[in-house]
Amino acid sequence: MKALWLSKRDVESLEIPMTEVMDAVEEGFRLNGLDQSELPAKIGVHPRKDCFIHAMPCWMGGEVDAVGIKWAAGYPPNQAKGLPYINGVWCMNDPETGMIKSVMDANWMTAWRTGAASGVCARHLASPGSEVVAMIGLGVQARTNLAALKEVLPGIREVRIHDVFPEQAKRFQEDMAPLFPKAPLVIEDKAESAVKGADVVVTCTPIVEHPRRFVMREWMKEDVLCIAVDYDSAFREEVMKGDAFVCDNRNQYLWTQEQGVYFQDGYPLEAEIYADMGEICAGKAAPVRKGLRGAVLMGIASHDVMTGRLIYRKALEKNAGTWVEL
Ligand SMILES: NC(=O)c1ccc[n+]([C@@H]2O[C@H](COP(=O)([O-])OP(=O)(O)OC[C@H]3O[C@@H](n4cnc5c(N)ncnc54)[C@H](O)[C@@H]3O)[C@@H](O)[C@H]2O)c1
Repeated sequence: MKALWLSKRDVESLEIPMTEVMDAVEEGFRLNGLDQSELPAKIGVHPRKDCFIHAMPCWMGGEVDAVGIKWAAGYPPNQAKGLPYINGVWCMNDPETGMIKSVMDANWMTAWRTGAASGVCARHLASPGSEVVAMIGLGVQARTNLAALKEVLPGIREVRIHDVFPEQAKRFQEDMAPLFPKAPLVIEDKAESAVKGADVVVTCTPIVEHPRRFVMREWMKEDVLCIAVDYDSAFREEVMKGDAFVCDNRNQYLWTQEQGVYFQDGYPLEAEIYADMGEICAGKAAPVRKGLRGAVLMGIASHDVMTGRLIYRKALEKNAGTWVEL
């Protein structure tokens, strides 16, 4: 038996546009909302302080009928070692036989589907006519998050960027400026000045066990969408207790909260969840476009299955990758 191995370079060579990843991720949300998927909460091990390696299996039913698992690590100390914070592989099985069809590098997938999920969230929850976006924590995820926001918020006229390391901000500015020929990317030394007056705020800082939660509610304007890509590391709990709180998946959020490490000390409890993104994308809960909206997008395995399936299909079309004997 042979399986298709796709390296990071193979995956990147496919040049899949963000809009296609967003559509795939949104369809995954919809199927979750219709209960047409099997999506257990991700489990993990923690070999070093603040470091995790997560196992993320999922079967997407309906017309999709695709199944796979991601094994993904997040190591904050890697930045100082010149290594990526996130790395992993994704494995796709044949849902009929269980046989392995493909194994692929999951770095591109993780970054792009994570950005795409924020884009889909903004599609349903951002104020129409959002003009100012603030990005906090300017690494890999922030790049794809901003790229996805650009697809859904055509009125962006300013992007405020903040990182604890000025050189990260400079690099981000240089890399992302070509995407925004008409909107300046303004480096802000303080998170507060980045956030004040923003219509959308996205935080992409490292997930830590004892978060500082340094992004305050009093900095926010009345109508703002706040998206946490980094669990509860950055946003103060009051930010998530505004007019509507959403998560990407209710079950995963609540299960994680129950473990007693993340989403403690004032983060929304079950009764305070307005909806999850599955319910919104399936039309079971209405979009909310006014007031203080908080979203915790932890990252769910349905994004990986939907994106992995897209990558696999494109790779077959373009004859990319290497068939390896199992
Ligand atoms: N929700 C999801 O689906 C998902 C998926 C992948 C990664 N993540 C999470 O996203 C976060 C970012 O991941 P990444 O791959 O971009 O990492 P990265 O290391 O590339 O970027 C993190 C950035 O945050 C900056 N930073 C650290 N502390 C900060 C602070 N207090 N204020 C401002 N900036 C700060 C760092 O200097 C760095 O530039 C991590 O928490 C990661 O676990 C979430």
